[in-house]
Amino acid sequence: MNIFKRIYCRTFQFFFKVAIPLLPYRQPKILQSVEDCAHILKSKNVGKAFIVTDAGVRGCGLCDGLTAALDQNGIEYSIYDKTMPNPTADAVEDARAQYVAENCKAIIAVGGGSAMDLSKACGARIVYPKKRLDKMAGILHVRKKLPPLFAVPTTAGTGSETTIAAVITDGRTHRKYAINSFPLIPHYAVLDYKLTIGLPKNITAFTGMDALTHAVEAYIGRSTTRDTRKKATEAVKLVHDNLKLCYDRPDNAEARKNMLFAAHYAGIAFTKSYVGYVHAVAHSLSGRYGLPHGLTCSVLLPVVLESYGKKAHKKLAKLARACGVADATDEKRNAAEKFIAWIYETNEYLGIPKGFEEIRDEDVDKMSEYADKEGNPLYPVPKLYGRKQLKQLYYKVKL
Ligand SMILES: NC(=O)c1ccc[n+]([C@@H]2O[C@H](COP(=O)([O-])OP(=O)(O)OC[C@H]3O[C@@H](n4cnc5c(N)ncnc54)[C@H](O)[C@@H]3O)[C@@H](O)[C@H]2O)c1
Ligand SMILES: [Fe+2]
Repeated sequence: MNIFKRIYCRTFQFFFKVAIPLLPYRQPKILQSVEDCAHILKSKNVGKAFIVTDAGVRGCGLCDGLTAALDQNGIEYSIYDKTMPNPTADAVEDARAQYVAENCKAIIAVGGGSAMDLSKACGARIVYPKKRLDKMAGILHVRKKLPPLFAVPTTAGTGSETTIAAVITDGRTHRKYAINSFPLIPHYAVLDYKLTIGLPKNITAFTGMDALTHAVEAYIGRSTTRDTRKKATEAVKLVHDNLKLCYDRPDNAEARKNMLFAAHYAGIAFTKSYVGYVHAVAHSLSGRYGLPHGLTCSVLLPVVLESYGKKAHKKLAKLARACGVADATDEKRNAAEKFIAWIYETNEYLGIPKGFEEIRDEDVDKMSEYADKEGNPLYPVPKLYGRKQLKQLYYKVKL
C-alpha cells in the first residue's frame, strides 16, 4: 500500500477510534426465551409479527416454541422461511414484499447469521423504500429507526444479535458487502442455548471458529477499548475451553451455553473494535463461491495472523497466555506462535480443510478488489495491506 493511502487509512481509523465514546452504540435487551418475545409484542400492542428463518431451522422445529407463544398471546404472524446461507439482496426484497403485503409491524429473526442479517437488511429497506441496499453498504448509511427487531440466534458464531452489521451478497456480481449502521442493532436478543443443541458438527465447528475470529480480529486491531479487550479475551477463553467439547458432545448443555456467550461477547467486541483482513478476504470468498462464512474465516485466520508477523505478536501472546496455550515464561514471539499453532491444531481437530480447491486464478483480482474496498480504510488492522498483498492471501489458501 502506498504511503498516501496508508496515511489516509490510519487517519480515518484514528477518528473512528476517538469517536467510539460519542457514537450511539447500544446492546439489545437480553431475553431468556422466545416466549418473552410474545409477551413484549403483546404488552406493547405492536401488531403482526414477521418471522424470518430458513427451511432447515424451521424443519428442526426451532420456530415452534415461538409460534406457540404467539398463538397463545393472540398475536398474528407471517413466516418467511426462504433464507439461504449468504443471503442475497434479492432475497431481502422478497422478504420485504411479504412484510409489506402482510402488513407486519415487527421482525423476529430465528436462525443463524443469515436469517438475522436478512432481517436487519429487510428492516432497513422497510424504512428506506427508495434506497437500494448496495447504497447502504459501508458505515452509517442507515439512520432511521427500524421496526421492532428481535434476534433469536440458533448458531453460536456470528454475534449478529448484538452487532451493527448486516452482511448481504449481490447475487449478480457476487460481491458480499457489510452494511454497518447503528439502527441495525436488534432491540432484543433471545440467548437460549437449547436452540443450538441440534447444530450439526460441521456447522458447530465453522460457527465456533467464526466467533473466535471476531474476538481475535477485534483484539489485535488498533481501535480497542478496555471493554472490547475484556469481552474479546473472555470469548477466546470460552472458545478454547468449549468448542471441541461441543463438537465431540453436541448435547453438552454447559458447553453449548458457553459457546453461545462466546459468540455474543465476540460480537460485542467486534461491533465496536471491528474485524480485519480475515473477514475482508473471507467475505469475498464466500460471496464468489458460496462457501460457509465460518469455514472461510477458520481457514484464513491462522494464515492471516502469521502474515502480520511481529506486528501482532504482543497481543496474540496476551491471548495465548489468557487461554493457557502459553505461559508467563514464554516470550512474546513464542507465545504468539503457540497461539497460531493452537488455531491450526483446532481446525484439524474439527475437520476443517487447509484451503479451497474452488479458488480460480481469474477470480483473484476481483476478490482482492472487494477485500480492499471492505477492509480499507475501515478495519484498524495491525498491518495494512493493499491489493497486491491481499492477493497473496488467496494464493496461500488455494489448494
Ligand atoms: N451481522 C454480523 O455481525 C455477522 C457476523 C458474522 C457473520 N455474519 C454472516 O452470517 C452468515 C452466516 O451465519 P451462520 O454462520 O450463523 O450460518 P447460517 O445462518 O447461514 O446457517 C447455516 C446453516 O445452519 C443451519 N442451522 C442453523 N441453526 C441450526 C440449528 N440450531 N440446528 C440445525 N441447523 C441449524 C441453517 O439451516 C443453515 O443451513 C454469513 O452470511 C455471514 O457473512 C454476520
Ligand atoms: Fe464472521
